[in-house]
Amino acid sequence: MTSASARPRRVLLIVGGGIAAYKSLELVRLFSRSGVETQAILTKAGEEFVTPLSLAALTGRPVRQSLFSPDDETAMGHIELSRWADLVVVAPATAGLIAKAANGLADDLASTTLMATDKRVLMAPAMNVRMWTHPAVQANVARLKDFEGLHGVVFVGPDEGEMACGEFGPGRMAEPPSILEAALALLDGPDGRPLSGRRAVVTAGPTFEPIDPVRGLTNRSSGKQGYAVARALSDLGAEVTLVSGPVALEAPAGVRRVWVETAEQMRAAVAAALPADVAVMSAAVADWRVDGVATGKIKKAPGGAPKLSLIENPDILAETSRNGPRRPKLVVGFAAETGDLIALAKAKLSRKGCDWIVANDVSADVFGAEANAVTLIRADGSMEALDRRSKAEIARALAARIAEHFTESE
Ligand code: C5P
Repeated sequence: MTSASARPRRVLLIVGGGIAAYKSLELVRLFSRSGVETQAILTKAGEEFVTPLSLAALTGRPVRQSLFSPDDETAMGHIELSRWADLVVVAPATAGLIAKAANGLADDLASTTLMATDKRVLMAPAMNVRMWTHPAVQANVARLKDFEGLHGVVFVGPDEGEMACGEFGPGRMAEPPSILEAALALLDGPDGRPLSGRRAVVTAGPTFEPIDPVRGLTNRSSGKQGYAVARALSDLGAEVTLVSGPVALEAPAGVRRVWVETAEQMRAAVAAALPADVAVMSAAVADWRVDGVATGKIKKAPGGAPKLSLIENPDILAETSRNGPRRPKLVVGFAAETGDLIALAKAKLSRKGCDWIVANDVSADVFGAEANAVTLIRADGSMEALDRRSKAEIARALAARIAEHFTESE
């Protein structure tokens, strides 16, 4: 089986209104030469300096301009857009955009995206020297730099030089190669894609165990949580193989999906996807399969149902956890329980030999739902409750913990 190639890095480029906006077109070209995909957002003021058409032609994607465009929002909503990216670059970053970001003002697509993103933001300011040196702008810049953790904005430039307005001093936007360099440092650095270079295997969905050509045994599982985990790991830069049972979901972009039907096929696909740094087993594997699957459809006969003889399926999680030298460094299982959740999940963790288990109370509305609530239990006994939130949020939290684990253990 071939390995998935890492998906391209993605930049969301916000083009503000400034004479330097024409340099952003060059920046897009540089990104594309470095294998970085760009999606542009053009502000109302930005439109005065570059056309949406030229940005669209260079990025190869329609340019996003409005927060309230039904067409755009159904294609990829502004929240999704900010999550799609590995990095947000604002070039040129005007005094206005900087002020909005520093003060949490969200009144158009660009500023809303800046508030909604969970990725690093790189700003390349461009403005008149008097504006740049104004204490208000300087205070806003200082504020943005000081925001905690990932919210802290990184600045590149401005450069000193002659400006379009004829004055001289700091305020010129950094040249595109410098912006590219700063962007690549963030994209490839530990904050940008902390799982870059890591391989992950994720199982998702149910398995289907045939009884005869038309009937089978299966489990209830929409695959949504597992698919969200695959996507979140990929978003952090991991090369992900998603071993999926039959579900009606699109494969996340950049994730290699291997379709399987039965537990035995899932076991083989997981083995073929190893070695991996991390395995997350979220599939609802059928515990049994039918011994001696009928080759033809079993006919209904009056006065009796056929007796099915069942045999146990392999436990893929337990096998992967005990795989000796091919064991992934981190093996994560799921425990869907209805009783004493924590105790049952802890017992499952030690029985299966995995490192972490995501305990999931399925007595509430979970199957097929968009939201979930879980407790992450580690083999060292530590526990973390992730209260009810979307499956995508759960997945992002889990992927972030996985990234932290690798950062800390190295
Ligand atoms: O034993 P139980 O099915 O409750 O265990 C759940 C965990 O074990 C999940 O992570 C599931 O993906 C995994 N599993 C497996 N192979 C099986 C049964 C469960 O990988 N045959």
